[in-house]
Amino acid sequence: MPLNTKDLLKQMTIPEKIGQMMQLSPWFFVADLEKEAAGPIRDLKLDEAKIFSAGTALGIGDAREMIEVQKKYLAKNRLGIPLLFGADVIHGYRTIFPVPLALSCSWDPENARIAARVAALEAATAGVHMTYAPMADLVRDPRWGRVVESFGEDPYLLGLFAAASVAGFQGDDLAGEGTVASCVKHFAGYGAPEGGREYAAVDLSRQALEGGYLEGYRKAIEAGARGVMTAFNTIEGVPCTINRYLLRTILRDRWKFSGVTITDYDSLHEVLAHGAAEDERDAARLGVLAGLDIEMASTDYVNHLEKLVTDGVVDLSLIDEAVLRILDLKEELGLFADPFHNADPVKEQLTMLSEAHLALSKRVALESAVLLKNDRMALPLHPALRIALIGPYATSHETNGPWSWHGNNAKNESIAEVLRRRGIDLTIVKDGDSIASYDASDIEKLRQADVVLLLLGENAHQSGEAHSRADITLPGKQAELVGFVKSLHGTAVAVLQNGRPLVLENILEADAILETWFLGTKGAEAVCDLLYGIADPSGKLTMSFPRSVGQIPVHYDGLPTGRPNHHELHPREYVTKYIDELNSPRFPFGFGLSYAAFSYGAPVLSASAITPSESLAVTVELHNETARAGVETVQLYLRDKAARISRPVLELKAFRKIRLSAFETQTVRFELGLSDLSYRLPDGSVVWDPGVFTVSVGPDSAHLKAADFVLKR
Ligand code: GLC
Repeated sequence: MPLNTKDLLKQMTIPEKIGQMMQLSPWFFVADLEKEAAGPIRDLKLDEAKIFSAGTALGIGDAREMIEVQKKYLAKNRLGIPLLFGADVIHGYRTIFPVPLALSCSWDPENARIAARVAALEAATAGVHMTYAPMADLVRDPRWGRVVESFGEDPYLLGLFAAASVAGFQGDDLAGEGTVASCVKHFAGYGAPEGGREYAAVDLSRQALEGGYLEGYRKAIEAGARGVMTAFNTIEGVPCTINRYLLRTILRDRWKFSGVTITDYDSLHEVLAHGAAEDERDAARLGVLAGLDIEMASTDYVNHLEKLVTDGVVDLSLIDEAVLRILDLKEELGLFADPFHNADPVKEQLTMLSEAHLALSKRVALESAVLLKNDRMALPLHPALRIALIGPYATSHETNGPWSWHGNNAKNESIAEVLRRRGIDLTIVKDGDSIASYDASDIEKLRQADVVLLLLGENAHQSGEAHSRADITLPGKQAELVGFVKSLHGTAVAVLQNGRPLVLENILEADAILETWFLGTKGAEAVCDLLYGIADPSGKLTMSFPRSVGQIPVHYDGLPTGRPNHHELHPREYVTKYIDELNSPRFPFGFGLSYAAFSYGAPVLSASAITPSESLAVTVELHNETARAGVETVQLYLRDKAARISRPVLELKAFRKIRLSAFETQTVRFELGLSDLSYRLPDGSVVWDPGVFTVSVGPDSAHLKAADFVLKR
């Protein structure tokens, strides 16, 4: 019998209601409060009554700990309202999948659903009820460390991956087995900090918000996400955490979102640091007026809301509306019927790192790597070749990447171990990043090798939260290793492990470059399969790689400007350009090579003009020119050439992942309708304009074949 949450609300005192609006670390519920009376308990002005009225807990170690905390909590909560446990399950729980930026390069949202499904199956047995994922922030600045958690620079692709993640986490029944509620983040615009500097100011116009930055959150909510986490930044000068335009006008009134909103860590209290509230009491007032339901990690609500109500400053109905949403989510999760919902130490052991989960992680990893360069078919490698391994990651097990708390890099194999296990003639020469330490014997080993594998990139702490970089070349001196190998006339294959697009100008003399990001628990095995052609690289970049950091932001879907630069190699004087750099990125959005080679026919349109009620068919011949089968992601872009407002020079509208056998030709078909030709105005309304559109099809955003058509009035 479903619980009547409205009746329960009526039984609650004001302090009990306000307690539901606070999230604490599980530590508070099991700490010896007498012994721990100082420290965070005193700093946050907490006492036992407040602690055991908290509605949610942040993070959990395992099922045993969750059960212990929930039992202790329920014994002290007067009405027996269970704790909801939230955690950051971003790209896997124990079985770690490729980081989201890598996963998006598979151009298959089903991979996002699978990764989230496996993560939910594992996290649920550990007692997790809600995950703070997907991160649906649009990103266009690779200096920002959290691009690693994003699904890239395109709103349409990002939205598909965010929605698929929600479906994977939540499954078909939130109260069922192996599901967790999805809390999409960070609402809104957190991916556009000035200078790519973490936590820096964000200044986005309403057109930028409606034209792309809101898309990922919108799609996640349309997919049923039950939570929204507010971002650290401001929008139009108002911190997102107390921003009524975002939290009420857009989220509640326009998108009809019925789930809970939660702050980011301490972000309600940080409204004071933004200079947008007088004091904690004012922050609490502004938060509840904006419709913010749960305060994570700080205690402005629990220390000030009651007095704001008794002083007549805040109406109790605002608290009731927030608490009812929290109770409703707990009821949706089945927590009143079973406060230990899915937490099961035995099932936990059977579920974590199962062979099936590991196999799925590897399969997604194989599709997430991107082949950036492959001169003279340096790849794939033949198993008989003598391999020398050098570089800072030559023996590294660290393939999980940032936000993989519950994973364990030590359990991962290194690339060296996989190659050895497969009987490859392998010499590990050096794992440093400087040629200074190479002696004559090292050099001889390099000369003896048929191929030198250089394992380069960033460590897991050079991207992720609070890890922005102003210089996005390869750290240290590792780039010199490529030139050194080439000076010995060796074949240099660079394998990159990194959490952001990098400036790779100083390693372009490598014969081959394979971008492997952080591919998760089975990353090393996946990389070796790709290097030896056991699997073919098929990934395509979802974020542009700049030629220089000075180009940033560099993304494929910029506005045309009044002085477009149509011939960047021979530009006229007064057009948009640099005098010391090209406009185009080194590797464009959508780019990725295969061991096969594909050619495209020109797009053929079903009509030269359509009415708003008609659709347009676009077909293109795709041919595999080689004797090797391969996978190609055919991309379709649009340009709206004349509209009410200036529109991007290109917008991704559709894509098809096609497998072609040797020398095969396939006709790839797309269908465009009015929704593909429409766009959002700054007020969020969706409009379309008659006129000329250009449809372009190709392997990436820089190599396209185009045809025009007219949308009639
Ligand atoms: C962090 C992150 C957010 C995460 C939260 C809880 O600061 O910004 O993504 O979900 O705190 O760990």
